[in-house]
Amino acid sequence: MNLTDKTLIITGASSGIGRAAAQVFARAGARLVLGARREGVLIDIAGAITAEDGEAVALAGDVTDPDYAAALVALAETEFGGLDGAFNNAGQVGEMGPIPDMAEETWRGVIDTNLSSAFFAARAQIPALRRRGGGAMVFTSSFVGYSNGGLPGMGAYAASKAGLIGLVQSLALEHGPEGIRANALLPGGTRTPMAGDDPSGHQTIADLHPLKRLAEPEEIAAAAAFLLSDHASFVTGAPILADGGVSARLI
Ligand SMILES: NC(=O)c1ccc[n+]([C@@H]2O[C@H](COP(=O)([O-])OP(=O)(O)OC[C@H]3O[C@@H](n4cnc5c(N)ncnc54)[C@H](OP(=O)(O)O)[C@@H]3O)[C@@H](O)[C@H]2O)c1
Repeated sequence: MNLTDKTLIITGASSGIGRAAAQVFARAGARLVLGARREGVLIDIAGAITAEDGEAVALAGDVTDPDYAAALVALAETEFGGLDGAFNNAGQVGEMGPIPDMAEETWRGVIDTNLSSAFFAARAQIPALRRRGGGAMVFTSSFVGYSNGGLPGMGAYAASKAGLIGLVQSLALEHGPEGIRANALLPGGTRTPMAGDDPSGHQTIADLHPLKRLAEPEEIAAAAAFLLSDHASFVTGAPILADGGVSARLI
């Protein structure tokens, strides 16, 4: 992995995939702006990176707030002199259940956190990437919303994650000529707090995957690092599966 001298935003950096990405990206040489709501956790993670001679700053906030998206970009520019890319990764599952029983606030909460946040992020990040002469954005989607993995009860989540694929296609078309790439990363089941800590629940999800296990968050972070690196220089507008084969089984 080589992210030397790239300044990158990571959202959802306080936990799971985003937290692993902070470590993987820092070790690959990136300068980081870390985002999530839990300030204390973010400060600890940034401190651990700095202690290993990496560079990271933290700014807590809510990705459903467009001003927060702008503030993360402003911090990248003031602290590190510009922005080269972003791992727009924060997300939530929301309450699961069939659509007729779904509360409107569940729908709106999931769509705001997972999809509207991506719009706010891209809108804030594109001008900064343009000032830099190009860059890359990765949005964490999911196998749910693509193959759905055979998991019912996730209508709002699936819609939000499928929406990200349409968004990156548009971003790729509109900003490819400026050297700006946009991709959706579709993890399979991954061992993070979002997947819970019930071993039988883990086993059920693992069994959906041909690899018969969950991903470790570092494996998904490695795929994100590739997409943000120059090694992925001709990859844009794509749903990139890192899903242990679950979609191959179902599509
Ligand atoms: N785990 C899986 O099996 C799996 C599979 C496919 C896709 N994904 C996707 O991967 C991404 C990361 O999930 P994860 O598995 O790492 O889950 P996680 O451990 O629960 O982490 C979620 C992260 O998102 C942040 N977040 C949530 N809502 C936020 C908000 N409104 N504003 C700011 N930050 C917010 C959380 O931080 P705070 O609580 O500190 O705000 C946390 O850092 C998500 O988009 C998820 O949908 C996960």
